[in-house]
Amino acid sequence: MIKSKKTWQFEQYIIHEYSELDSTNSLAFELAENKKVFNNEIILADKQNKGRGRKDRQWQSPIGNLYFSIVLQPKIILKKLPQLSLIAVVALNLTIKKIFLHNKISAQILNKWPNDLLINQKKISGILLESKINNENCDFVILGIGVNIASSPDNALFKAGCLVDFGCQIEGQELLKVFLKEFSNLYQIWQNFGFKNIKSIWLENAYLLNQEISLNVGQLLIKGLFQGLDDDGNLLIFDDQELRKINFAEIL
Ligand code: BTN
Repeated sequence: MIKSKKTWQFEQYIIHEYSELDSTNSLAFELAENKKVFNNEIILADKQNKGRGRKDRQWQSPIGNLYFSIVLQPKIILKKLPQLSLIAVVALNLTIKKIFLHNKISAQILNKWPNDLLINQKKISGILLESKINNENCDFVILGIGVNIASSPDNALFKAGCLVDFGCQIEGQELLKVFLKEFSNLYQIWQNFGFKNIKSIWLENAYLLNQEISLNVGQLLIKGLFQGLDDDGNLLIFDDQELRKINFAEIL
C-alpha cells in the first residue's frame, strides 16, 4: 500500500496528497471500492506513471502539471451522470478565467464537448469520469482531472497547450483550491436544481456552437451543424435534415 505524503482539508474536501502514483483515478477507484475513501475525498499526485485518458489513451503526467481525482456519491439517476464532466468543465473554465483575470492575461477559453477545455484552440485539460454502478444505483463516481500547467504533449490528437504558454505560472494546489470553490458551488446547484442553469453557462462558452462540425461516433463520421445540448447534456447535431442526439463521441 502506497503511503500518502500528507492529508489536508480544504472546505468540505479531504485531500490525500502523493508524490508519485500510477494513476489518481485508479487509486481513488480502488480505495472507494474498498470503502477507504468516500464522498468529497480527493487523491492528488505530483506525477503519474500510468496516467489514463479517455478511450484507454495515455495521459502524459510529468511533474509540474496538476493531476487529481475526486470521489463523489451524488444522488442522481444514472443517465444524468455524464453531466458531471460538463459541470467540471464549466468549473474549470471559470477557474482559469479568474486566474487569467488576476494575472491580466487575455485569451479565449472555450468548452469543447464533452469535456475538454481549450485556451486559444489548444487543449489544456482532460477529464476522465469513471463510476461504480450497483443495481441501477451509482455507488460512487471518480472525477479525474488533469490540467497542463507547465508542459503539454506534442504528439496529442488535438493540439495541446499549457498555462505557461500563456504566461501563467501557478502552483497546482492553488489552481486546485480555486477549482474546488467553483466546482462545489456548481455541484450544489446541480444537486438542488438540476442541469438546466449549468447547461446555459456551458453553452455561453461552447467551442464551434452553431457551426459545422465533424464528429467521430465509434467508427462513424457525422458532419452537421452543432445546435447545442439537450437537458441531459447530449450533443445536438443537425445532419441530413435530421436532428440527432449524440451521447458519446469526439469533435474532430
Ligand atoms: C482525456 O482527455 O482523455 C482525459 C484525461 C484525464 C487525465 C486525468 S489526470 C488525473 C486523472 N488520473 C488519470 O489517470 N486520468 C485522470
